[in-house]
Amino acid sequence: MDYNNLIEKAKEAMNHAYSKYSNFNVGAALVTKSGKIYTGCNIENSSYGATICAERVAFSKAVSEGEREFDAIAIVSSSGDYTYPCGICRQFMSEWGTDLKLIFANEKDTKVYTLKELLPEAFTKF
Ligand code: THU
Repeated sequence: MDYNNLIEKAKEAMNHAYSKYSNFNVGAALVTKSGKIYTGCNIENSSYGATICAERVAFSKAVSEGEREFDAIAIVSSSGDYTYPCGICRQFMSEWGTDLKLIFANEKDTKVYTLKELLPEAFTKF
């Protein structure tokens, strides 16, 4: 899998961010094990608490279309620096396995982690 392409898709999705309260734009691109890509951006809300992060938007799009097996998610933000997922997104993503690769990009470089590394000893009922 060419993760540079995935990063490009995350950057494109970031252009759709609805971030009028924070002005912090985030884009995510999630690739399934079969190679299909689902993108997401953050969608803010006047209540603040109803805001949805880019990662959960991408996962919600994919899962609601029947996808269950994921390879990697690329995440970028308008900060230009590495942007790591919040705790809610780490927990949310862990539902589909912690071998998921997370690809982070700043203006010059990329970094890869597994979800397991970012959420050790994740809560699970099974
Ligand atoms: N945000 C994301 O979309 N993903 C992250 O990984 C971190 C935070 C969003 C939520 C909110 O719209 C904005 O960034 C500022 O917190």
